[in-house]
Amino acid sequence: MEQSKSEAPIAAAGQQPRGNFIDREHLTPGQIVEELDKYIIGQKDAKKSVAIALRNRLRRQNVSDDLRDEIMPNNIIMIGPTGVGKTEIARRLAKLAKAPFIKVEASKFTEVGYVGRDVESMIRDLAEQAVAMVRSEKSEEVRERAAQHVEERLLDILLPPVGAAGLSDLDEPVEEEGLQVSSSGSGDESGTERELNRKSREKMLERLRSGRMEDRQIEIETSGDGQGGMMQIFGPLGQMEELGGIMQDLMSGMPKKRKKRRLTIAEARKLLEQEEVQKLIDMDAVVKEAVRKVEESGIVFIDEIDKIAAPTTGAGGKGPDVSREGVQRDLLPIVEGSNVSTKYGVVKTDHVLFIASGAFHVARPSDLIPELQGRFPIRVELKSLTEDDFYKILTQPRNALIKQYQALLMTEGVELEFTDDSIREIALMAARVNESVENIGARRLHTILTNLLEELMFGIPEQITDRKVVIDAAQVRAKLGQVAADRDLSQYIL
Ligand SMILES: Nc1ncnc2c1ncn2[C@@H]1O[C@H](COP(=O)(O)OP(=O)(O)OP(=O)(O)O)[C@@H](O)[C@H]1O
Ligand SMILES: [Mg+2]
Repeated sequence: MEQSKSEAPIAAAGQQPRGNFIDREHLTPGQIVEELDKYIIGQKDAKKSVAIALRNRLRRQNVSDDLRDEIMPNNIIMIGPTGVGKTEIARRLAKLAKAPFIKVEASKFTEVGYVGRDVESMIRDLAEQAVAMVRSEKSEEVRERAAQHVEERLLDILLPPVGAAGLSDLDEPVEEEGLQVSSSGSGDESGTERELNRKSREKMLERLRSGRMEDRQIEIETSGDGQGGMMQIFGPLGQMEELGGIMQDLMSGMPKKRKKRRLTIAEARKLLEQEEVQKLIDMDAVVKEAVRKVEESGIVFIDEIDKIAAPTTGAGGKGPDVSREGVQRDLLPIVEGSNVSTKYGVVKTDHVLFIASGAFHVARPSDLIPELQGRFPIRVELKSLTEDDFYKILTQPRNALIKQYQALLMTEGVELEFTDDSIREIALMAARVNESVENIGARRLHTILTNLLEELMFGIPEQITDRKVVIDAAQVRAKLGQVAADRDLSQYIL
């Protein structure tokens, strides 16, 4: 059932309007910042920089060929202490741009020839991510159609169509359920038989849809390759991974073993749905679109870039490490724009957006090799978070921690309320502990809240049966005041 070959790449529809203006679908820098504001407090400069970078990539893609290559990509280095929103900004940016996104740790890479991940693997991972993303989009599109096919298949199993061998695969005779099954025997003219069969199918369909038969056992045939993930070749080098991909392709070309299984209708439905979705999706089109997505809108977030920069002072550095510079050299061509071969074909990295990040406590951005510095022309500093920021982070973002806890308890029918002064108190405590112990930014809020709410989370629903719980400042102080004031204690607890 090969279908939807028509899913031609939609590039023609306005992706490459050469000489045209950028279409309205793409967010403007202002809109991007507005969206980021919904999740991230403060860090105005960083938001602005990433917004410009994203828009500039689009602009650059639309510049005429000869000039385009002259325009520098807008890769960014975000500098700032831990837990202030660097990763969060990049992640949100990718989400709202609906772009393939991966986060890699620079320190995980080693120079080509050494054991470790090679730098190109980040692009392979990005392609993998994009394929998964496009595939799930496409699955969504065909879900309904797949469900229809599944219904048909279930009916075929329950009531084999006229002419098919055997009666039904049900445990018990179907008649018990008040349905007429007419296939074997009788030997009447096939016209009425077919009519009868059609009617029983209709009835059966009703029953299926009513959900009353979900626990019934049936026997189905499925392709036996399960999750398909059995063939994994692990290897430090890209070539090995590549080999794995090739092997996998070879395997998938082989005829699949069909396996008979006994399942309830509910289970069978899930399994068959996956199969049908798989059949309806045109994987060639998925791969094509995924590669296009990577090339045009992919975002690679390279964390801990400072760890591969050798500090010139030597202070704090772990001795001369040749491989760090090697990694930087390996990074260069990818960031600059090169062709990386993946199991989905060659991927060009010219327009992939790279966002690097690091605390740069020891090393400075200027400790990176000059060529790499040049490829990350935008530097932006993120600020340490203040008590006031914490207050906002607790309450304002769409996914604010307090909202998360409220939603969790709501599932138990418990309303959780924080008085305003309790939130102020938590923010103050977070700021203090960050100052006295170690500045871990907004992550401190997590540890404080887990401690504050531990008993509540444990006690509900058995010991604590209140429908409404109010947390006020006094409780926060009573619970955490002592710990927060004691540097040694908070080192372990908060
Ligand atoms: N400015 C902010 N606004 C809202 N939430 C924030 C902010 N900064 C950090 N957070 C929250 O704190 C957590 C850690 O943030 P994030 O992962 O962005 O840190 P980071 O800056 O990347 O730190 P690291 O250098 O350790 O990687 C996240 O859950 C994030 O939601
Ligand atoms: Mg991070």
